[in-house]
Amino acid sequence: MVHYIIVITLLALGLSPHCLSSKTVGGGYLYPQFYDHSCPKAQEIVRNVVAKAVAKEPRMAASLLRLHFHDCFVKGCDASILLDSSGSIISEKRSNPNRNSARGFEVIDEIKAVMEKECPHTVSCADIMALAARDSTVLTGGPSWEVPLGRRDARGASLSGSNNNIPAPNNTFQTILTKFKLQGLGIVDLVALSGSHTIGNARCTSFRQRLYNQSGNGQPDNTLDQSYASQLRRNCPRSGGDQNLFFLDFVSPIKFDNSYFKNLLANKGLLNSDQVLFTKNGESRELVKTYAYNQELFFLQFAKSMIKMGNISPLTGSRGEIRQNCRKINA
Ligand code: HEM
Ligand SMILES: *[C@@H]1O[C@H](CO)[C@@H](O)[C@H](O)[C@H]1NC(C)=O
Ligand SMILES: *[C@@H]1O[C@H](CO)[C@@H](O)[C@H](O)[C@H]1NC(C)=O
Repeated sequence: MVHYIIVITLLALGLSPHCLSSKTVGGGYLYPQFYDHSCPKAQEIVRNVVAKAVAKEPRMAASLLRLHFHDCFVKGCDASILLDSSGSIISEKRSNPNRNSARGFEVIDEIKAVMEKECPHTVSCADIMALAARDSTVLTGGPSWEVPLGRRDARGASLSGSNNNIPAPNNTFQTILTKFKLQGLGIVDLVALSGSHTIGNARCTSFRQRLYNQSGNGQPDNTLDQSYASQLRRNCPRSGGDQNLFFLDFVSPIKFDNSYFKNLLANKGLLNSDQVLFTKNGESRELVKTYAYNQELFFLQFAKSMIKMGNISPLTGSRGEIRQNCRKINA
């Protein structure tokens, strides 16, 4: 009934009812109570396994948060990132953004194994990732939110989508914003979600260009604090050491807080894609300042933007499947 009224209103406004898909309307077909009857323990299972994994290795929180992002930007939040190569499937795990970088797959496997015992063929791998991202945020001190659920899992992957849709650390501000807009996200989402870089690590290869030859003139990035740059050069040489790890937020690397934004104000963002939020656009600069001065506003917006990202093109109803093993499609 309500649905019809909305459709009629949209038609009266000259809008297409296709706007009702969860891609554009927050929540859409997904809702937090989706497993309340079919698998009441679903959320508890995710929380327990994630808590155990993060207790063992704090960085795992960051890795799980990032997995959900890299999933959602490629054909929607459909667990396509979890598929290994086999048959006609070419795994997204070998894309430029994911190769030697995306991690946490074993933790998702463990959650799925417990889940299949408790309620077989019921909880999707895509929903597990969305819950794990929320739990990782909470466990490291960040905000909480209710995760809309009901996503189903893709029967395919897209290596090209992974290479093209996920922003690179040396993309320009404009390119990064365009890549967000293509997913239905805006500048506010871009700045808030980049705040994820308040936890976790990056490899030398992801920011080396800034230390030695930012724009092809043999000079380091002049928007990078000089003493911070020389510290970074010690473990990120001109050549070699590609996989050496650095904290994205050197002030509080395993705490989800707003120090990432404070670092940007001090020209101490690690990635070029971080610092440009402060240097290349007035609107995003103001947002960075807002979040640097007000952690509460950052947390509120982060939660909202995570829900929005989690709503990118989910497979619902009878589309897709509930995978039994997150690494492969059902036989
Ligand atoms: C705005 C564009 C973004 C770019 C260019 C970007 C790029 C990167 C890069 C290059 C790394 C380090 C990878 C490595 O060297 O192995 C990284 C790490 C990370 N990213 Fe992003 N990212 C972006 C947005 C996001 C978003 C939206 C999220 C989550 C919502 C996110 C969460 C993370 C986390 C948590 C890590 C640390 C992962 C770990 O320690 O395992 N990033 N990102
Ligand atoms: C960005 O980095 C990639 C990979 O290291 C490199 O091939 C490309 O030339 C860089 N792009 C720019 C604009 O510097
Ligand atoms: C910097 O990069 C440019 C173009 O990418 C290259 O021609 C130049 O030789 C590099 N300079 C140094 C000092 O590495």
